[in-house]
Amino acid sequence: MKKGIKEAIKARQKSYSPYSKFKVGAAIELKDGTFIHGANIENSSYGLTSCAERNALFSLISQGYHKEDIVALYVTGDTPGPISPCGACRQVMVELVPKTAKIVLSNIKGDFEETTLEKLLPYAFEEFEGDND
Ligand code: THU
Repeated sequence: MKKGIKEAIKARQKSYSPYSKFKVGAAIELKDGTFIHGANIENSSYGLTSCAERNALFSLISQGYHKEDIVALYVTGDTPGPISPCGACRQVMVELVPKTAKIVLSNIKGDFEETTLEKLLPYAFEEFEGDND
């Protein structure tokens, strides 16, 4: 199995999902070989739930990394085929993941599909593409 998928499976083990019981893991591979993990975190006020993909990306930015550091984003869940990220996460990916990054969607058995941001969210809303100064 690809290392990135194994990392996403490890990330998934950190999920806090007592309501849906649906664990999702995300692992972002950086140019220096580091993997940043994210898992879904739910709340009894259901709408406050935060997905694995967004948690991984917000963690990455909070730790001082930048979108240019990202090589690939791996996402996994216990789905029959490769998991498909929600619309909100796709919009956040458009902002924080470079267009050239590999997006690897998988399930915990290791079935996977490699895709791109452009395929996941064509016609995306993008207001800002400059420096964050
Ligand atoms: N979830 C994710 O973490 N990522 C997705 O792309 C889809 C859904 C989470 C949110 C919630 O905790 C659970 O999966 C069921 O929707």
